[in-house]
Amino acid sequence: MRTLRGERGERVPLWIMRQAGRHLPEYRRLRAAAGTFCALLRTPELACEATLQPVRRYGLDAAIVFSDILAVPDALGLGLEFAEHSGPRLASPLRDEQAVRRLGPPDGECLAQAARTVTLCKSRLPPDVPLIGFAGAPFTLACYMVEGEGGDFGRARAMLLSRPDLFDAVLHSAADAAAASLAEQARAGADALMVFDSWAALAPRGMERQCLLGPCRRLLTQLRRRNIDAPAIVFPRGREDLARALADAGYDTVGVGWQADLGAVCAKLGGTAAVQGNLDPAVLLAEPGTIRNEARKVLAAAEDASAHVFNLGHGIRRDTDPDMVAALVEAVRELSSGK
Ligand code: CP3
Repeated sequence: MRTLRGERGERVPLWIMRQAGRHLPEYRRLRAAAGTFCALLRTPELACEATLQPVRRYGLDAAIVFSDILAVPDALGLGLEFAEHSGPRLASPLRDEQAVRRLGPPDGECLAQAARTVTLCKSRLPPDVPLIGFAGAPFTLACYMVEGEGGDFGRARAMLLSRPDLFDAVLHSAADAAAASLAEQARAGADALMVFDSWAALAPRGMERQCLLGPCRRLLTQLRRRNIDAPAIVFPRGREDLARALADAGYDTVGVGWQADLGAVCAKLGGTAAVQGNLDPAVLLAEPGTIRNEARKVLAAAEDASAHVFNLGHGIRRDTDPDMVAALVEAVRELSSGK
């Protein structure tokens, strides 16, 4: 928690994006028992168990609540479904003006699901392991809300260019609903909050203020206005050039994607925010010697940051061997102690 606020501690803390998920055999068993991904998300007892699994196995320094960024569009009435082979999709994407104008506030009962998981997790996590709540950033959410599914988001990009007024309405709705969800998670006990802008790189050049910075600022302003003071992490994957502007907007920590130059991002931040990241997830497919070397490079690149939370530069791959994750945890512990 201190690191997220920019203080260096006795070692570099570590957690892993998508640590709760399919690379773990115990997750695959839990998921099979739940029947579907959506059932797992919507049953706090099971979602709590998925949250705790990686903490138990690896002794990580933080837990992240088991949920999905698409829970917010679901709460906005777009209908979350999970296709076994292609991933999550929305049953009623926003394809025309009428659909956008019909958007209302998020369903409270729907948002309460993640909050109930948070409460349960907090009662079961060791007191020295903070819990991270999260939501999608407005732009990434808006892309899914218009498109309905992952891919190249062609329809979303077309709406953004042909009907910027409509896309803006989607961005606002996404920002407000994400802020409401994060506020509920914080009130339920989430210690830190993370905003995933996983598809930030799809925003057209010259439109970053409208698409990325403005909406991320709106989201954070709404949180702070609700008196939520938990540290906020933002992950502008592929647009790390915006790190300084996001720090200036008030984000405490900037997550850095694996393709970005971590040292350069730290230099640009000049101590205005802590950094999180950014080991290439593919490194975990290698052997312990390589993992240790690459971890050492990431630690060195972040040496000039005000503070550093070690993480991967995107989610862990499902073909990762848990023993290699254990090797990473051991290497980061050992290499960073004394820093
Ligand atoms: O451990 C954790 O990180 C906590 C849970 C978490 C999930 N999704 C669970 C999940 C988090 C933080 C997310 C965030 C998320 N979801 C993002 C932003 C981060 C990123 O990866 O860029 C995005 C874009 C989504 C949307 C999403 N959900 C996609 C594209 C997919 C399919 C891709 C894939 O990996 O299968 C999901 C499904 C999903 N969300 C799974 C999990 C564990 C896999 C579901 C399963 O098959 O059991």
